[in-house]
Amino acid sequence: MKKILRLQSAMLKEIDKYEKLVTERSHFIDWERVHMVSCATIGYDMALERGVDPILAAAACTCHDYGRIITGKQTGHAEAGYEPVKVFLKGTGLFTDEEVETIATAVRNHSKKGEIGTPIEEIVKDADVLDFYRYGYEFARSTQKVRLEKLLGHPVETGVADPDRLHK
Ligand SMILES: [Fe+2]
Repeated sequence: MKKILRLQSAMLKEIDKYEKLVTERSHFIDWERVHMVSCATIGYDMALERGVDPILAAAACTCHDYGRIITGKQTGHAEAGYEPVKVFLKGTGLFTDEEVETIATAVRNHSKKGEIGTPIEEIVKDADVLDFYRYGYEFARSTQKVRLEKLLGHPVETGVADPDRLHK
């Protein structure tokens, strides 16, 4: 079954819906469309390398910014996505209750870039910072840059908007 394609198709419909409902947004709406797909691709490969279920990892990467998609707000978006993404995921019928909980927990914890979480959470966080970097975004917090440099194994030039800010 093309689970990730089906999930991303459902996510695109959610983004279309919330684009109309929430017009004030901290991120360009097309970033949500692009980032969820590119993150999932990165996460799938990382999962294969790390011995993690690639479908579950790609699903968590696909949904990780769900909170920002539905609220439009960057602040607190990880926590804001936890309960709503469970409703969304259950509605797709693609995942078991246990898988829904695993994905939703990764959504909730993905902004804790300075902490080490479960293997799925770590993949979401690593894929997130790598995708940010590849698209030329400046990091909001130093913990994101530290994570990326650890992942790549070398320093990066990308700036940090607020180096002293540890959490959003
Ligand atoms: Fe996020």
